[in-house]
Amino acid sequence: MKSLPYFLLSLCCIIVAEPSLAQQQQELGLKDYYHNLFPIGVAVNGRAIKGDEAALIKQEFNSITAENAMKMGPIHPEENRYNWGLADSIVHFASANNLRVRGHTLLWHQQTPKWIFVDENGDQVSKELLLKRLREHILAVVGRYKGKIYAWDVVNEAIDDNPEKFLRESKWMEIIGEEVFARAFEYAHEADPDALLFYNDYNSERPEKRERILRLLKNLTEAGVPIHGVGLQGHWSIFEPSETDLEEAIERYASLGLQLHITELDMSVYPWEKERRQKRADESDAYTPELEQKQIDQFEKVFGIFRKYAEHITNVTFWNVSDRYSWLDHYPVHGRKNYPLLFDQNLQRKKAYWKVVDFKKD
Ligand code: GLA
Repeated sequence: MKSLPYFLLSLCCIIVAEPSLAQQQQELGLKDYYHNLFPIGVAVNGRAIKGDEAALIKQEFNSITAENAMKMGPIHPEENRYNWGLADSIVHFASANNLRVRGHTLLWHQQTPKWIFVDENGDQVSKELLLKRLREHILAVVGRYKGKIYAWDVVNEAIDDNPEKFLRESKWMEIIGEEVFARAFEYAHEADPDALLFYNDYNSERPEKRERILRLLKNLTEAGVPIHGVGLQGHWSIFEPSETDLEEAIERYASLGLQLHITELDMSVYPWEKERRQKRADESDAYTPELEQKQIDQFEKVFGIFRKYAEHITNVTFWNVSDRYSWLDHYPVHGRKNYPLLFDQNLQRKKAYWKVVDFKKD
């Protein structure tokens, strides 16, 4: 029989004991595991900053990006009207909860309002007028959040999808030409000299596209344009990128003296498709154990690489919160469910989560 003092001593130890590892893991979020490496962000819409997703964001992340609210079309729908509501709410949510904000995006060929390219008669505007409008837009948006948004995706997706071509055709290119990219960075720098300014693109680790992005980045840096980093969107899948392509891309971009952000990370369980289409009747969109395992392996691989290159990678942001909603549920295949994130449809941590926070192999 154990004595009473022994019993009291054990009781005491139980009461003052440190929380168990399991308890600690309940309390830590992605942001805590990665505290010494880089912020972990998430793209949000109006719904995500309310209710249970908001609670998850506060627990897991320390950086946010507006999924759409700061793009030119949504935020500046008419020449003399800005829609600040949702963008302000996102910035407010961030400051109330101690999150950084990445701004997205100032110059893009999509989600651009039609008014900006035409005058009051409906005729195409001159280069001078379009540059003036672009400057006013950037000064207004970046200026409004000066000191609150620490990094901006200034130029988004300027490279053509055709590997034989360099810059994508767009109204911006047609009216202003390549100079528009340098000007956009200069206007952003004028509006907030302390903000970090990024060029952002997808498939940026595929060697052929990487070389064309590097060419644009070199043109900008050699001309003395204020650019501080490159955003690898990270719309990846269980099939790509390979370890070699990702590591080479990081090294090549970093060799220009630029920092890297992974800006829009998700891990599709389907191969890349460019053209939009409807889901076929015989097409399964079940999240099978095989797909789940491939996704776990791919998340483990890319996060291992992010940690290895943490000296150059200064933010990793997921595109959407959980598998409850992802833009990939309707793009490129309309009506096909995807499961590309670290939290499931009930906002629970998936198995891949535990691989992402397991640093044992480092
Ligand atoms: C691109 C853009 C993002 C977003 C995604 C799809 O990657 O940069 O803003 O529109 O497409 O959600």
